[in-house]
Amino acid sequence: MSETAKINIQGQETELPLVVGTENEVGIDISKLRGSTGAVTLDFGYKNTGATTSGITYLDGEKGILRHRGYSIEELADKAEFLEIAYLLIHGELPTKQEYAEWDNEIRRHTLVNGDIQNIFDAWPTGSHPMGQLIAMISSLSSFYPESLDPNAGQEARMRTITRLLAKMPTICAMISKNRIGHPLIYPQNSLTYVENYLNMTFKHVTEDYELDPILVRAMNKLMILHADHEQNCSASTVRLVGSSHANLYASVSAGVAALWGPLHGGANQKVIEMLEAIQADGGDAQKYIDKAKDKNDPFRLMGFGHRVYKNFDPRAKIIKKSADEVLEKLGVNDPTLEIAKKLEQAALSDPYFIERKLFPNVDFYSGIIYRAMGFPVEMFTVLFALGRLPGWIAQWKEMMEDKHPIGRPRQIYTGPVSRDFVAMDKRS
Ligand SMILES: CC(C)(COP(=O)(O)OP(=O)(O)OC[C@H]1O[C@@H](n2cnc3c(N)ncnc32)[C@H](O)[C@@H]1OP(=O)(O)O)[C@@H](O)C(=O)NCCC(=O)NCCS
Repeated sequence: MSETAKINIQGQETELPLVVGTENEVGIDISKLRGSTGAVTLDFGYKNTGATTSGITYLDGEKGILRHRGYSIEELADKAEFLEIAYLLIHGELPTKQEYAEWDNEIRRHTLVNGDIQNIFDAWPTGSHPMGQLIAMISSLSSFYPESLDPNAGQEARMRTITRLLAKMPTICAMISKNRIGHPLIYPQNSLTYVENYLNMTFKHVTEDYELDPILVRAMNKLMILHADHEQNCSASTVRLVGSSHANLYASVSAGVAALWGPLHGGANQKVIEMLEAIQADGGDAQKYIDKAKDKNDPFRLMGFGHRVYKNFDPRAKIIKKSADEVLEKLGVNDPTLEIAKKLEQAALSDPYFIERKLFPNVDFYSGIIYRAMGFPVEMFTVLFALGRLPGWIAQWKEMMEDKHPIGRPRQIYTGPVSRDFVAMDKRS
């Protein structure tokens, strides 16, 4: 294969080197393009643009493949603990028994948050959205741990910041849940695993005993692994872009959470359930909503369908779908919106509009159904996505910092007015 690509711009031919990844993905290295030709590339939504090289996650949307550090998502979701995956993403290898014990212990010992954090919660108006709170809370950690502000503080300080964020995230997410309903907080228990601790802090009442249900723990562990990383998506790219200015990890991840909130990204899991409820309230006619989604004059989209990179069944959705069936059966949940979800799924998978555009149900379509069965309120769904995605954001940020990437600063093609003289206000018509 040729090692270069030739491009002819207004009669001037230029050769550009190719970059080939370990899975033979080919990229054209345009880093010298502007310098040698004066031209830039234009790619709305970065549909064709590789923003970085990365050794964390491999995704082939045409074949429905997702691997972290070479391991298939199917195996990881089936065999691993969430914190093991966090270690794998952040450090690059699966931990040995001893490495895992140290990692797990370090994280268990940092789960408490500073008591002053509650003062911030006290200032929120009742009913404010949990994602808005999560963005602020993660960012506020930079005030409690100012050593995180120094981008040159060294590897040990960087790892301390990473451990703190990983350890405190479940505590913060559970505080959001408890504050929403005005209940006293449940402190973290260092004897519990990461996932158990989160469930305990969320579902235990201060006045009652709470027994962790192994079905819920296993389902939650799997859901969190399935969300752990997804290469250069909107929120991971945001984390990298913000971090590239050497903003601290808390600020960078907080920006990633903001990107995740949108209904076209992680916010879709909340929108899926709201859509299913709306269809049910409207008589349960799934076909009516399929027709609305196909109507180009109607802004309605089927939430939880379609994906920027998967043009095949999302491998995570396959695993979650199976898990949803198991969890609902074991918990004995009879959710009427599930019937509507199944009807939508069947109709969409057999409808030419969806087949031609390769619009399959995505991970958010099924995750909301499980979260609901587990007892989470719908406004918390995207927070749960963030909790799972945290190791991925951290790994992306760490790789970007270690590879010493330059500040992210795209170019543009200017389309505004050309140079003109200023007109005094009394002379403007
Ligand atoms: C995920 C998503 C933003 C990807 O967007 P994208 O890569 O920019 O793809 P486009 O919006 O260009 O969609 C391609 C075509 O499929 C259609 N389409 C995409 N998603 C659709 C949906 N959920 N319902 C109906 N039509 C959809 C578009 O209208 C477009 O049709 P056209 O070619 O006739 O104009 C998009 O599929 C979507 O909005 N899905 C719903 C939200 C969601 O579930 N997000 C979570 C993603 S994990």
